[in-house]
Amino acid sequence: MNTAVRYYSRSGNTKAVAEAIAKAAGTAAVVVNSADAPINGPVDVLFIGGALYAYGIDSHLKDYLKTLSKNDVKKAVVFSTSWLSKHAIDLIRKGLEAQGIPVADETFYVKNMPNESQLKDAAAFAKKFL
Ligand SMILES: Cc1cc2nc3c(=O)[nH]c(=O)nc-3n(C[C@H](O)[C@H](O)[C@H](O)COP(=O)(O)O)c2cc1C
Repeated sequence: MNTAVRYYSRSGNTKAVAEAIAKAAGTAAVVVNSADAPINGPVDVLFIGGALYAYGIDSHLKDYLKTLSKNDVKKAVVFSTSWLSKHAIDLIRKGLEAQGIPVADETFYVKNMPNESQLKDAAAFAKKFL
């Protein structure tokens, strides 16, 4: 199975979740504004995450979602961190659905910086989709 992990993180909280998911999936966690971010070729599961900033998602992530194609991404799985609100999940889902990409109902969320136990939960969550 082909998997990929993409994320955007300003202060490292979402990055920590992305890395736990990537490790479980045996792939790399790639930040959306890096040279490696474009999805080349079909991916069965794309794990994609971001945080909420002033009730929105970062423009790097917003722009990245628009580059994704349903021809390359069979299914997306969303994860997020924030201080309180899970709204980033809705925004990421909306961006993916606008591209015609099916999104798993189940999502993964952590309040701020994940602790060791939450990182284990992230890995277990990822394994459900592998
Ligand atoms: C400028 C800024 C705005 C934020 N706005 C919100 C917000 O509207 N709602 C919320 O629940 N958390 C908000 N947060 C908290 C972040 O979503 C939270 O710290 C998140 O885990 C940061 O993820 P990151 O470390 O991956 O960047 C905000 C943080 C910053 C720095």
